Amino acid sequence: MLILSPSILAADFSVLGEQIREAEGAGARYLHIDVMDGMFVPSISFGMPVISSIRKFSDMIFDVHLMIERPERYIEEFVRVGADMITFHLEATDQPGEVIRQIHNLGKKAGLSLKPATPVEEMLPFIDKIDMLLVMTVEPGFGGQSYIPESTQHIRQAREMFRGRGLDTDIQVDGGITVDNVHVVLEAGANVIVAGSAIFKGDVAGNVKSMYRAFGKFEETRKPGEKL
Ligand code: DX5
Ligand code: ZN
Repeated sequence: MLILSPSILAADFSVLGEQIREAEGAGARYLHIDVMDGMFVPSISFGMPVISSIRKFSDMIFDVHLMIERPERYIEEFVRVGADMITFHLEATDQPGEVIRQIHNLGKKAGLSLKPATPVEEMLPFIDKIDMLLVMTVEPGFGGQSYIPESTQHIRQAREMFRGRGLDTDIQVDGGITVDNVHVVLEAGANVIVAGSAIFKGDVAGNVKSMYRAFGKFEETRKPGEKL
């Protein structure tokens, strides 16, 4: 199933609630929430108070992307404020297996993320334990960057690794995705699409609909019965 996960990093925070409602009203079911600590990545975004505020009026699936050092310190708290799925970076912890267990023990979905320079093979020890792999398609830390073309090969490689083991695990992509290049990542095997600027800059509802139209066009081009 193809899923859109709008990233609020690109939203207007003075009217965040309205913007989320608009995305949800236009059909988005996931909400991508980028948490940055100024250590794992150069910038700082927002944390728990923002997530609990928006949790109160949204039923969307909160897809929390932790760009923080030693995520094991905060898993419980992010679950408490309303995360439905938590993705952390392989490069940010020396105990990835333990973090996955922590997330699962709290009844949530676990995602593992790889920076563009991290070889895809590094996820292999966790391949049958994760619910989602996030292949970063820009250097994490900022919205509004351009898609790194080498990412396409990483997505393809990850999809082959899952397929070879009979797994149909979600592959999320994040960074520089637009209506004009989304077909490239879909064709390579991604199925959970994060988009920040492409959704929250301008007409939010219109942007969500354009992205779904691009998904639809891609699906039409696939042969009947062909699986991702
Ligand atoms: C980057 C973040 C992304 C960001 C994507 O570190 O993880 O989620 O919001 O923004 P766009 O879609 O504008 O590249
Ligand atoms: Zn993100």
